[in-house]
Amino acid sequence: MQQILYLPCSPRGQMSHCLTFAEEVLARLRQHFPAATVQTRHLACDPPGPVDAAFSNGILDPDSPPLPFVQSEILIRELEQADAVVIATPMHNFTVPAVLKAWIDQVVRIRRTFTSTPEGKIGILEDRPVFVVVASGGWFSGPSPTGTPAQPDFLTPYLRIILNTIGLRTVHFITLEGVTRGPAMLEKAVSLARVALDCILPPR
Ligand SMILES: Cc1cc2nc3c(=O)[nH]c(=O)nc-3n(C[C@H](O)[C@H](O)[C@H](O)COP(=O)(O)O)c2cc1C
Repeated sequence: MQQILYLPCSPRGQMSHCLTFAEEVLARLRQHFPAATVQTRHLACDPPGPVDAAFSNGILDPDSPPLPFVQSEILIRELEQADAVVIATPMHNFTVPAVLKAWIDQVVRIRRTFTSTPEGKIGILEDRPVFVVVASGGWFSGPSPTGTPAQPDFLTPYLRIILNTIGLRTVHFITLEGVTRGPAMLEKAVSLARVALDCILPPR
């Protein structure tokens, strides 16, 4: 493994739980692949622009000039050059934050990263592992420890499906749930995340 693409999606810097745990994931990847370098594309500090009219019209026209896709092309090439991807994302309103959705809208591009066929959309990119660290204030994989029902989760199924759509089929989620519910809950979330990380990438 030569290159790891790191996509931080929280604006909270050192206060961020997903960014903090992503450092552990990156450290573990460095243990496994000491020669790998990390390229960081900070989606929260420098978010991709929203899809505009030129982009929207361009994807409808197979002969469109490349101009509307300059930003898209830069982000897709970063992805193509990476042997692994680490996404660190908060849950915002049951789903991905807007900055991550903006990146998705730039990299999931017809005739470039997927094709549309009678059998459905087929990914064009080569598979590579994607490690997704998710931090959420509450719980979505099941009820809270006090019995509050699980909240809806439009983040993990969506991210898995959209990454699969462009060919990235090896997607590992490491979740930290209940991180805003006091120090004991945070500690539990981090220790569960460490167990999950050890299963995915055993310590060396
Ligand atoms: C705009 C916004 C929406 C949020 N929506 C949810 C939510 O739907 N479910 C949840 O469990 N937590 C939600 N939270 C809480 C965050 O997921 C939580 O603060 C998490 O720690 C953020 O990740 P970070 O610490 O890496 O920044 C929301 C926070 C913000 C700012």
